[in-house]
Amino acid sequence: MRILVTGAKGQLGVELLAVLGHGHDVIGVDLPELDITTPETARAVAETRPSWVVHAAAWTDVDGCERDPQQAALVNTEGTRRVAAACRTVGAGLVYLSTDYVFDGRKGAPYLETDPVAPLSAYGRSKVGGEEVVRAVAPRWAIVRTAWLFGASGKNFVKTMVEKGAAGGPLRVVDDQVGSPTYARDLAKAIAELLSRDLTGTYHVTNAGSCSWHAFACAILKEVGMAHVPVTPMRTAELGRPAPRPAFSVLANHAWAAAGLRPLRPWPDALVSMLAAWKTTQDLPRLRNR
Ligand SMILES: NC(=O)c1ccc[n+]([C@@H]2O[C@H](COP(=O)([O-])OP(=O)(O)OC[C@H]3O[C@@H](n4cnc5c(N)ncnc54)[C@H](OP(=O)(O)O)[C@@H]3O)[C@@H](O)[C@H]2O)c1
Repeated sequence: MRILVTGAKGQLGVELLAVLGHGHDVIGVDLPELDITTPETARAVAETRPSWVVHAAAWTDVDGCERDPQQAALVNTEGTRRVAAACRTVGAGLVYLSTDYVFDGRKGAPYLETDPVAPLSAYGRSKVGGEEVVRAVAPRWAIVRTAWLFGASGKNFVKTMVEKGAAGGPLRVVDDQVGSPTYARDLAKAIAELLSRDLTGTYHVTNAGSCSWHAFACAILKEVGMAHVPVTPMRTAELGRPAPRPAFSVLANHAWAAAGLRPLRPWPDALVSMLAAWKTTQDLPRLRNR
């Protein structure tokens, strides 16, 4: 099957190309060759004639989106509209990547796919906008909401913690946001599974379990032999970030389980795999002895 992946150079896109490349004809597109906010999007999809488009391209800088909500909407909502319209023209299915930030985090229990969205930030609103255009425009679609992505490729929280830990710390990390860290490679495999079963609808897909960013940081440092580096908990408000974040955005992978699919492994196991994969890329910082 031919699959077009947008955002192919991003954290998830790299993993999608690696995973879907086994058994499928996969074409990846990204900036600067393809900007999804331009009419080139229609041409790229028409020329490729894919069976599915996996749309992972997005402006993911949450604070940047808060400072420039128009640009957030242009890329994440209107860019998605172009991708969805192009899918309709060629009859391709569309997998759209969305986020736990569509929720306000006030539910106090894991979110179901059917829970009402209530984004707190411009980024969250722009991704909700993307979801709405996908449902309205794409002929066949799956919306995959995920959270707290980390992978061996690209910049992410795991790498930042290891780099800061290797510099000796001390670290201060928020302990009043709880979510589900998710390994980009595991998510790419889950998307491959959805495609192989031709499943449509809205799915929450994360690694199993949840934690605060502070607990995540401690687990990361322990795993790389830097448990001695002090990690002090702090409140989100102390950070003074422009964009509000949901305090509790754990996603119940309910539709995934209802479709008979196996839950993704617990995030601590996925973390071990990511660190091993990162090590093979040789850019894991030299670690201190325990
Ligand atoms: N990261 C997370 O924790 C997280 C959590 C929940 C959901 N998600 C969603 O999962 C998806 C993948 O996330 P990710 O972490 O892989 O993001 P990422 O690493 O930021 O990758 C996104 C890619 O899209 C590209 N892009 C940005 N604007 C574009 C445009 N106008 N036209 C074409 N490409 C453009 C980016 O290029 P540049 O780097 O050059 O800007 C980047 O290569 C996104 O839809 C995101 O909203 C992510």
